Amino acid sequence: MSRNILVTGKNGQLGRSLKKAVNLFYNSPHQSPNNFEIIKDLNFIFVARDELDLSNPQSINLFFQNKKFNGIINCAAYTSVDNAESDVESVEQINYLSVDQIAKVAKNLEIPLIHISTDYVFNGHSFKPYLEKDKTDPLNIYGLTKLKAEKAIIESGCQGAIIRTSWLYSEFGNNFVKTMLFLGREHESVRVIIDQIGSPTYAFNLAKLIIMIINDYLINKIFNSNFNIYHFSDDGICSRYEFAKAIFEISGVSCKLDPVRSKDYYTLAKRPNYSAMNKDKIKKHFPKLVMPHWRESLIYCLSELKNIRS
Ligand SMILES: NC(=O)c1ccc[n+]([C@@H]2O[C@H](COP(=O)([O-])OP(=O)(O)OC[C@H]3O[C@@H](n4cnc5c(N)ncnc54)[C@H](OP(=O)(O)O)[C@@H]3O)[C@@H](O)[C@H]2O)c1
Repeated sequence: MSRNILVTGKNGQLGRSLKKAVNLFYNSPHQSPNNFEIIKDLNFIFVARDELDLSNPQSINLFFQNKKFNGIINCAAYTSVDNAESDVESVEQINYLSVDQIAKVAKNLEIPLIHISTDYVFNGHSFKPYLEKDKTDPLNIYGLTKLKAEKAIIESGCQGAIIRTSWLYSEFGNNFVKTMLFLGREHESVRVIIDQIGSPTYAFNLAKLIIMIINDYLINKIFNSNFNIYHFSDDGICSRYEFAKAIFEISGVSCKLDPVRSKDYYTLAKRPNYSAMNKDKIKKHFPKLVMPHWRESLIYCLSELKNIRS
């Protein structure tokens, strides 16, 4: 009998990247993520906001009544970091309280929960890549609610994994890469922040890791004692400016880039200046995991975008 894995956030960039990965690895007998063994009888059920509305606690209760799942992957979130500053009640409900509720469901059903968190749980004062155990200190409402969710999951006692990721982009939805391409084609010059340092993450690479983790859990029941927090991004570290420069170079956009400091670029939410993360823990857990350099992933994503447009 096939096992049902619920995926929230069906229409988000990670949800759509996960769907792409599931189509690739589950419809082809010879493909697997990073040559990792996967159970072929998993049935991924992708749901959007109209089926499971995380802003509504009753909707969450109703959704889980009389349904049987063997795992939950939570890709949904309130992700507009600036809007979150003035929409505190919604972001608190969607990013924290709903996750608390889902974690309790996972605990009751004794099924694993894979939840996505963020580098924005850190304050960015570090000068070396953050470890999972490093002190958290979010600078904005978004980061604070994501941190509260991490704590709620751990307190619930459910099994699974929290994956902190950073600077997510893909050919789907809205993200820095697509915004830069749009601005670069419309304007002669674009201002980009030079003193925010981190690691871009191509969402498809994260999707492959998620498939590995859920399979690992279902095969080996490895997460049976402690809830695990992992850091994951593409390899390499860069500034937002360097990232934008690479986007323009690779896609042949001739727009001029003006470097600016965060202090001269007003945004509603503060962001950490340094948020690169150390990924040794996930590499140790999955020695077969391939983490491409961010530039290599960017080249791939830009070619996928070209294919979509042509
Ligand atoms: N984007 C980044 O740079 C970044 C960085 C670090 C961590 N993350 C984390 O990575 C995960 C995936 O992010 P993403 O970039 O894929 O986000 P995204 O593209 O903005 O997608 C978020 C998804 O959440 C859904 N959602 C929002 N409110 C909802 C609600 N009330 N009920 C049900 N669904 C709701 C959205 O539905 P609609 O399509 O209906 O709006 C959308 O499908 C999130 O946990 C995010 O916090 C993202």
